[in-house]
Amino acid sequence: MSRGLVRALLALAALAASAAAAGGALVERIVGGSPVDATTYPFAVRLSIMDGPMDYRCGGTLIADDLVVTAAHCIVEPQMATPFLLEKVNVCYSDSNVSGQTCTVALNTTVHPRYNPLVLTNDIALIRIAPVEITSTTAPAAVYTGKLPENTTLTTMGWGKTDSSSEALPSTLMSTDIVVGSPDTCREAQPLYRSADGPDVCTVNALTPGRDSCQGDSGSPTVIAVDGGAQLVALTSAGIDLSNTSATDCAMPNGLAIYTHIYYYIDFIASTSGRPQSSFTGSAGAGGQSADSDRASSVAAAISCLPSVAAAIAALLVASAVL
Ligand SMILES: *[C@@H]1O[C@H](CO)[C@@H](O)[C@H](O)[C@H]1NC(C)=O
Ligand SMILES: *[C@@H]1O[C@H](CO)[C@@H](O)[C@H](O)[C@H]1NC(C)=O
Ligand SMILES: *[C@@H]1O[C@H](CO)[C@@H](O)[C@H](O)[C@H]1NC(C)=O
Ligand SMILES: *[C@@H]1O[C@H](CO)[C@@H](O)[C@H](O)[C@H]1NC(C)=O
Repeated sequence: MSRGLVRALLALAALAASAAAAGGALVERIVGGSPVDATTYPFAVRLSIMDGPMDYRCGGTLIADDLVVTAAHCIVEPQMATPFLLEKVNVCYSDSNVSGQTCTVALNTTVHPRYNPLVLTNDIALIRIAPVEITSTTAPAAVYTGKLPENTTLTTMGWGKTDSSSEALPSTLMSTDIVVGSPDTCREAQPLYRSADGPDVCTVNALTPGRDSCQGDSGSPTVIAVDGGAQLVALTSAGIDLSNTSATDCAMPNGLAIYTHIYYYIDFIASTSGRPQSSFTGSAGAGGQSADSDRASSVAAAISCLPSVAAAIAALLVASAVL
């Protein structure tokens, strides 16, 4: 059975400009969501991987002032199966609106050693960046360590497609609620799925009709409300329409989405970063851990992420990794 299709988005770089231009007129969001301010989710970052004329679009989450967690399939070049060169990987933060973001280049990336691009297992990677200045719109998330029973409501977000039939991308961060599915339903896509407490969190579209993550949202945060704040639960990995496993449409009535469960991979995060697990988890709410004011606040490698190319809708290729 198919594990699903990745939710990264490979687009011609020119699309970025059209996306910004379309911002004010958007009716539909993430798919079925609404715009959110960066102060609500200051840990959400946008990844723009510029590979020649192509811009590989994803998201990620700040889990420290110098560390981003994302999907492995976002930073592994699909044809070569090796990580993209660091200078191609831009991490953009500090604003929900793409045009106001500051971007910084990756200093180091680590893909999970058992990432399998064919079946999309262990779809997680870490990106190290120069420490960012912690502000009301830029702050790390704390990793949620609790259980995730069936029917738990989560919130997913990203700068990805808002409608499967349209190539337009939103200019601002969008979010929507999604709900953890029953193991029986999720096993239709993943025979080994037991619960959302394992390596993956599976959400079922039928529980939130018309709402889903979509291409371009890969790697982006999925959070749970804790004490009025938000803690990081998972990252967007893949989606599948059980009625047509070769279709890439999102929010289909018989669809599922698969998210990599961050806490399940806390050992990988701790060992890769050389920091204790406790530095990534905790009771912090929105904004996660408190700012470390001693860290360097200037972002030397900051560059602009918004290409100055003319708006032009061009052919759009959706990266597919089908089983
Ligand atoms: C994003 O910023 C651009 C440029 O300032 C602006 O034109 C656009 O309306 C903004 N989008 C939203 C949704 O606020
Ligand atoms: C989850 O919600 C569905 C629909 O409301 C309900 O039928 C089901 O019994 C719930 N499952 C659990 C374990 O509570
Ligand atoms: C399934 O999706 C593919 C890809 O979009 C499409 O070409 C095909 O016609 C669809 N099949 C059915 C039965 O709808
Ligand atoms: C960076 O590179 C070193 C190897 O020099 C590696 O051990 C480390 O885990 C890497 N990853 C990150 C995200 O810093």
